[in-house]
Amino acid sequence: MPDAERPPARLGVLVSGGGTNLAALLSAIDADPDFGGEVVVVGSDRPDAGGLQRAEEAGISTVVERLADHDDRRAWEDALIAALTAHRPEVVVLAGFMRLLTGEFLSRWPDRVINTHPSLLPAFRGANAVRDALEYGVKLTGSTVHLVDEEVDHGPVIAQRGVAVADDDTEETLHERIKAVEHELLPECVKLLSQGRLVVDGRHVRVREAL
Ligand code: GRF
Repeated sequence: MPDAERPPARLGVLVSGGGTNLAALLSAIDADPDFGGEVVVVGSDRPDAGGLQRAEEAGISTVVERLADHDDRRAWEDALIAALTAHRPEVVVLAGFMRLLTGEFLSRWPDRVINTHPSLLPAFRGANAVRDALEYGVKLTGSTVHLVDEEVDHGPVIAQRGVAVADDDTEETLHERIKAVEHELLPECVKLLSQGRLVVDGRHVRVREAL
């Protein structure tokens, strides 16, 4: 089927925080009739995540599974999978989702779980990437969008963009500039994945031309 005739890919988005990346994705989809994807569900581990409110304002279904409401991480992840699959997403976007997902989750969406990370991977993996880059004293950090595998911030890289570190940066000012880059890079990569244009060969991701 030519790309233009495919039905839009069904996207699930997971958030734990303010949801500015979710907002950027929704704007990019709204602005681009050829995007090839639509957000059908937004999920969170935190009932107070700002991203949930953004989803509700946009009329998108939301699901919340708190770790504390389950016996263990396995039960929590199973509940999250069930809540998401009820909405039949074909792609899962981690947009500031601060929990680890196991192979059990990833096997449901092989090479179809995508994450945005605020550093140039493999530098500064983990939850404090911006602070760690500042403390290390690097002059360049940035944004990485990658497919998710079972290791933290490790899966095949789809795209990266650099952000220069200023002498007077704080974690907040640097993170704001990185987020501005994420807000462009994540939607671009989700669009490619939605359109089925990412070819994954081991750790290497290539982009094929649109048909
Ligand atoms: C982003 O910088 C993301 O890379 C990091 O957390 C931030 C989430 O921001 N993991 P938001 O919730 O999308 O505003």
